[in-house]
Parts: sequence; C-alpha cells; structure tokens
Amino acid sequence: MKTIIEPFRIKSVEPIRMTTREQRERILREAHFNLFLVPAQDVLIDLLTDSGTGAMSSEQWAGIMRGDESYAGATSFFRFQERITELTGFDHVLPTHQGRASERILFELVGGPGKVVPNNAHFDTTRANVEHSGARAVDLPIPEAADPANRHPFKGNMDVAALRRLITEVGAERIPLVMVTITNNSGGGQPVSLENLRAVKAVCREHGLPLFLDACRFSENAYFIKRREPGMADRSIREIVHEVFALADGVTISAKKDGLVNIGGLLLLRDEKLLHAASNLLILTEGFITYGGLAGRDLEAMAQGFEEVVQEDYLAYRIRSVEYLGEKLTALGIPIVQPPGGHAIYIDAAALCPRIPAHQFPGQAVVCALYRVGGIRSVEIGSVMFGAAPPSTARTSESVSPGAVRPRLELVRLAMPRRVYTQSHIDYVIEAAAEVFAQRNALRGLRMTYEPPVLRHFTARFAELEPGA
Ligand SMILES: Cc1ncc(COP(=O)(O)O)c(C=O)c1O
Repeated sequence: MKTIIEPFRIKSVEPIRMTTREQRERILREAHFNLFLVPAQDVLIDLLTDSGTGAMSSEQWAGIMRGDESYAGATSFFRFQERITELTGFDHVLPTHQGRASERILFELVGGPGKVVPNNAHFDTTRANVEHSGARAVDLPIPEAADPANRHPFKGNMDVAALRRLITEVGAERIPLVMVTITNNSGGGQPVSLENLRAVKAVCREHGLPLFLDACRFSENAYFIKRREPGMADRSIREIVHEVFALADGVTISAKKDGLVNIGGLLLLRDEKLLHAASNLLILTEGFITYGGLAGRDLEAMAQGFEEVVQEDYLAYRIRSVEYLGEKLTALGIPIVQPPGGHAIYIDAAALCPRIPAHQFPGQAVVCALYRVGGIRSVEIGSVMFGAAPPSTARTSESVSPGAVRPRLELVRLAMPRRVYTQSHIDYVIEAAAEVFAQRNALRGLRMTYEPPVLRHFTARFAELEPGA
C-alpha cells in the first residue's frame, strides 16, 4: 500500500475549540500580536513546538500507574536504565528534568572562561549554557546549510575542515569537547549523516577530544540515515542508533522530543571521573541519581517512549507527515527551507513577503496571518527571536530601527507535535497556508512597542503598521 497511515488508534481525545475570525482578530490584538501571549484554548492547531507536546501511548500511561516513587533505588529507575543502556550502549545513565538541565551540569563541569565549544549548530539553550559557563560557543555548519533552497540530504552536517581549522587556531587544550546536534534544530531539523559523524570522530581521536551528541532527535536522524545514506537501507533503526551512540563519549538528551514524553531528560557519560562529578551536581541541583528531577512514573513513561520511538512504522508516519506538509506548501509556491526536516517545516518569510523589510518582521507578519486565517499557532525564527536593537535604540515604544542586529534568515517554524494531529489537521494547515499565500502582498509589517531585555520573543509586544508604511 502506498498510503502511510497514522500507526495508532485514538483512545482518548482532547477537544479543540473553533474560534471565529472576529474572535481571533480580538485575541490577536489583546496578545499584542505575539502568539506566545495567546491562551492555548484559543489556538486550534498548535505548531509552536514539538517539545513536550506529544501524545503518550496506552503503554506509557500504564507505566505512569506502575511508577515506583521510592526516593532511592526505585524499580522504575532500573527499568529505565536497562532500556537506555540497551538502546544506546551507555552504562552510565543520569536522569534529569529536561535537556537544558543535562547541558547545565555538563558545561558547569567542562566549560569555563577561555574554553571553546564547537557544534554543528548550538541549540539556543546549549549555547546559553556554554556561554553561562564563560566558554565560547562556535557553530560550524556546512556551507550548504546557509541556503534555504539547497536540497543537500544531510544539511545538518558539521563542516569537518572548519573544525580542523578551529582546533589549529585555538588549540585542542582549550576545547573540552566537540558537540554534534542530531538532528540540527537551529538549522531546520536537518539530519547529520553517519559518514559525517565518523569523520568528526576521526578528528576528535586525532586530537584526543571527546565527542558529545545533543541527541534530542536521534531516532528521526537515524531514519534519515536509513533513507538517504548509501548502504544504510537494509540496516535496522536500532542498529543505526547503536552505531551513532557508539561514536560518542557523552550525550545530552531532552526526552521531550524522541523520548515521546511531556517532561524528562538524560545525561549519558562514559568517563568515570566526569560521571562522579556530574552525579554530585545532579544530587545538588536536580535530585538523587535514581530519579534526577523526575518522578518514578516519568521514568517509566520515558523507558517506554524510547522503545516506541525507534519503531519503523512510527518513524515512517512521522517523517512522512512533515514531508507531506512541506511538499504541499512547495506545490503552492510557498518558499520553505528544503528539504523538509524531521520535526518541522520552516517557511522562508523573507522570500514570501519581500515587501516587508527585516526591521518590520516579515516572519511575525506570517505568524499573525496564519492565526488570523486558521487559528494556527507557529513561531517566528528571525529578527524577532534573534535580532537585537542597536545600543542607541530605546527599548520602549520605538520601533526597532533599521541597522539593528539581524539574523541571516527570516523563518516561520511549523513544528509538529508527535502523534497529536492527523492528516486532516495537516490538510487544514495547508488550506490556511494557501490563503495566507494569496494575501501575501497585503500582509502588514509590525513594529515592536515593547522589547524585554532578554529572550525578547517570549513577551515582546507589537503594533501592526499601516499598509505601505
Ligand atoms: C537540539 C535541542 N537541544 C536542547 C534542547 C533543550 O531541551 P529542553 O527544552 O528539554 O531543555 C532542545 C529543545 O528544544 C533542542 O531542540
């Protein structure tokens, strides 16, 4: 059969609320045109993030009931540890409450002033934790990653020659570890090939550097390796996952993605000395080593989630749903980052709305239009999220002026929660996107009326500009 179906039946449902266009117009104004400020009950299809927003299976809910809440040595921990060791080959498994907690522990131990941490592309929490330690975070994506239209099959790859240059430039002794993010979230959910991981590992070996993975989406990455990398088609996902983890000396994971849970994280280590130090920090800041910052029931749900996420029918459905959305948007003429990534589609808002300059936030204009038209929540990844006003600009009622710090791309991310929406939901998103596309020349830019001092996209406020302003 050619049709790829959702490989599950739905046992429990959560109603979503239709709103009228007039209601959405009012809600948008009350939220100052910032979708983070819109209550979830006023959103019809929520594509804000794929993190912690997935649906758990009946077996995971059964695990929730089985959870052993003993403070130390809970049965749930040992079940969780056994599953993770079997999947990854790592014997040392520390649970944490989410990915950034693993990152904080790791970089508090290996970071520090004068240190340099290379990554194919740091996710924002990883970068923040590296920099919080006093170290410098350096992104080394391949050049193809900079071109949204380029269809390189492994656009998440690290630029190995650039890694060599960095090591020569700063000296291996200043680099505590090399990190690779699979898949590359900041770069559009693009995968990293096994060949690239092996090449990065070879450079690490030459210089005696540990290789760490930020492996939130390890299973989606493995599926791309199976589908796209020569010689990989006949290998099982588990085999590929095993080989990927075997290359690593340590791993941070946010289980809110491929762990198929709403909360949870992991830190996997091989080095005994580092394990000892990390365990002590875990006890100090998260909780005892057999529960991290979690409840026993969360460990059960994770143990089961990591089992389900490597099933190939699940992955075929997952990756195909995202690809389907990407293909349909492309067919409509909507420019997206190509090829579609594993967990999200990224609309190229600068190409879609060339009349709206970066300082009038074309991505935010598209985000507002998708909400107006269809009650869909997406997120801007461009000048709102990563831009900054020039030092002289008052952070109050002024529009952020031209000449401010600008990111390279103006994107709108449609992130797909796992096992939550069906194909008809996706068809609805496509229909709404078609209407936004038809109105693209009439979309209005915005000015920022309030800019918070940090992570401005969460609480910034906007006003819409008059057409042609
Ligand atoms: C690649 C990557 N690393 C780290 C994190 C941080 O994980 P958490 O949100 O669980 O702290 C995320 C979350 O989106 C991510 O996508």
